[in-house]
Amino acid sequence: MPASRTEVAVTQESLTPDTAAAVLALAVLGEDADGIAPLSEQVLLRVRHASTRPTHLVARLRGAGAGTADGAGALVGYLVLQPGGGERAAELVAELVVHPAHRRHGIGRALLGAALDVVSANERRGTTLKIWAHGDRPEAAALAEHLGFVRDRILLQMRRPTSTPLPDVSVPDGVRIRTFRPGADDDAWVVLNARAFADHPEQAYVTVEDLRERQQESWFDPAGFFLAERVEDDRLVGFHWTKVHERPAPAGEVYVVGLHPDAQGTGLGLALTVTGLAHLAALGLPIVLLYADETNAGAVRMYERLGFRTHHTDVEYARRVVDRAG
Ligand SMILES: CC(C)(COP(=O)(O)OP(=O)(O)OC[C@H]1O[C@@H](n2cnc3c(N)ncnc32)[C@H](O)[C@@H]1OP(=O)(O)O)[C@@H](O)C(=O)NCCC(=O)NCCS
Repeated sequence: MPASRTEVAVTQESLTPDTAAAVLALAVLGEDADGIAPLSEQVLLRVRHASTRPTHLVARLRGAGAGTADGAGALVGYLVLQPGGGERAAELVAELVVHPAHRRHGIGRALLGAALDVVSANERRGTTLKIWAHGDRPEAAALAEHLGFVRDRILLQMRRPTSTPLPDVSVPDGVRIRTFRPGADDDAWVVLNARAFADHPEQAYVTVEDLRERQQESWFDPAGFFLAERVEDDRLVGFHWTKVHERPAPAGEVYVVGLHPDAQGTGLGLALTVTGLAHLAALGLPIVLLYADETNAGAVRMYERLGFRTHHTDVEYARRVVDRAG
């Protein structure tokens, strides 16, 4: 434990443009220090749009002269708390980051303590608080375990060089693949996505509003968003949404692949995946990455056959919140 501890105040804040900019800057500092982004894309979107949907907890240095960049009032820690697992689940999910120059001063513990207070004050007994730790770093494990959280879910980030040749695959009979038409395909895609991910803790709950938020992002490109539809009635039966990252280095991503339950086991998942990988390779990107749940053995096996290998893991920690003392 360090001899002197940084004094901070943790408060729940709505995001002003200045605070949102400071949170985004903190996320970049954390990524530069740790080699891994501490906040997920979904959280960064919520911050950038100053969304009031999640709870934003902010740690600021105490003292006079609030508002300066690195003096009193400076933002040195951030924790976001959002509902997880859909409307009915008693579950909240946190992500947090502490300024690299202010670590081991109790700020992470203070932020998580404040999150536990919010949960026990506002939620029903038995709510589970979860925390995502990107990169499975030892300091995250130490903090989570120190506060009584246990490892609950493991997400693999897998990668594949685009120089690896792709297999020849054919699209199943009666199905064609085309690209997404913004506006025209929004509603049908949200319905298909909910069917495809009925058991998924996050993806099943993507709304038309969420889809439109993503369409406004600079990376959104309908030319890399592939839909599979039945020839006989144009009904959507699958999709492969790809993404291009500029930072920290250019890379493509298998962002989401989803199939209607009726289309599973037909070879369409492989055909859609390969179509998207060929598109990303044609853009000249050196690698393609993706995220897969460690327990999703079928998907992991398909990706391994296509040459993907695990690059790192993200861990979700969980703790049931009975009351503040519990
Ligand atoms: C993980 C993180 C949030 C910790 O923040 P922090 O302010 O440095 O943590 P604290 O000072 O509150 O640490 C509280 C306790 O956690 C444990 N801990 C935290 N960092 C540790 C480390 N590097 N090594 C060993 N134990 C550590 C200790 O038990 C510590 O108590 P102590 O200092 O009295 O021994 C910070 O390193 C960070 O932002 N990492 C990148 C983002 C991330 O991993 N987020 C997910 C967090 S679960």
